[in-house]
Amino acid sequence: MRNRLNQETELTNLRAESGLQRKVMRSSNWDRRRFLTVLGVSTVAPAWPRITLAQAGRPILRPVPATGEMLPTIGMGTWITFNVGSASAARAPLVPVRNRFFETGGALIDSSPMYGTSEAVIGELLTRTNSRQRLFSATKVWTYGQAAGERQLEASRRLWGVPRLDLIQIHNMLHWEAHLETLNAWKAQGKVRYIGITTSHGRRHGDLEKALMRAPFDFVQFTYSLADREAEQRLLPLAAERKIAVVINRPFDGGDLFASVKGRPLPAWTREFDCENWAQFFLKFITSHPAVCCAIPATSQAAHMAENMGALYGRLPDAKLRSRMVQQFA
Ligand SMILES: NC(=O)c1ccc[n+]([C@@H]2O[C@H](COP(=O)([O-])OP(=O)(O)OC[C@H]3O[C@@H](n4cnc5c(N)ncnc54)[C@H](OP(=O)(O)O)[C@@H]3O)[C@@H](O)[C@H]2O)c1
Repeated sequence: MRNRLNQETELTNLRAESGLQRKVMRSSNWDRRRFLTVLGVSTVAPAWPRITLAQAGRPILRPVPATGEMLPTIGMGTWITFNVGSASAARAPLVPVRNRFFETGGALIDSSPMYGTSEAVIGELLTRTNSRQRLFSATKVWTYGQAAGERQLEASRRLWGVPRLDLIQIHNMLHWEAHLETLNAWKAQGKVRYIGITTSHGRRHGDLEKALMRAPFDFVQFTYSLADREAEQRLLPLAAERKIAVVINRPFDGGDLFASVKGRPLPAWTREFDCENWAQFFLKFITSHPAVCCAIPATSQAAHMAENMGALYGRLPDAKLRSRMVQQFA
């Protein structure tokens, strides 16, 4: 009964998220891009932000505890940003976003069947790059019913155009026990390398904890940012204790963190951890948490990608600087 209630709550949440996605796609960013594309104006950044001294060093990597494989601490989300439909004019502005991601050391791309055309867009972008060997493919299963889940997983594999997905996560815990059975079988057959489970927006942390205690997940994904530090209480320590790799979604609170610092200069003390802009401030706060494997910011703009990937380089804040970062947002 409780399970059923959870699933119904989940479906309500999912409908709300899908509604939000449509709303955001109608908002200024997407409309601006489409408007300029229709006019034939390139929305590609005219010049790349310079590669800085910090970026010239080695990328920061973290191990996946299950295998010791090293992953870059900044990946890429695709929820709204890659759900652009099938028209090549709408997809073209994402080519420089992809290029910048791989050129600066990116590997993990996160998607889901819930994200409209995102998986198809990723698949197409991957056919047109020779950087695809860097890819760490992370998608999700998001449906009710084991058979429907299997069909969805096969569809994702086709859309991504990869022989084997690196990570499949059970999206928002929907019908997770059933999908876990399939995913364990897929893992045994070598069709997926890692299994994970997700939530976001601070939802159902208690249920997620129980799932992590019950089943041996390789990865867990949830929200953590300067706008929402709830995960510090239980989820992050639990993941560390159970040796589960943590992927952080909504690192910019969906973009709202930028609005909260609009017009505010970056404090001088942020140079102590090689921080050059607010994007790196928000991301380095997350990736400096010892339990975090990587954060997956989403962007539709190559210039923003360059800023975000800058957080993959240089020093990270220590515990003292992290407290100062929190105070900045108190
Ligand atoms: N339950 C789940 O499993 C779940 C739930 C939510 C999200 N996720 C995953 O997590 C990913 C990230 O979350 P999110 O997409 O909700 O939000 P987010 O990454 O916190 O924020 C994305 C927003 O930030 C803006 N942005 C990015 N870089 C910027 C920069 N350097 N300067 C200024 N603005 C910048 C983007 O606009 P521009 O396009 O203009 O750059 C976009 O509007 C998703 O895409 C998805 O893959 C998973």
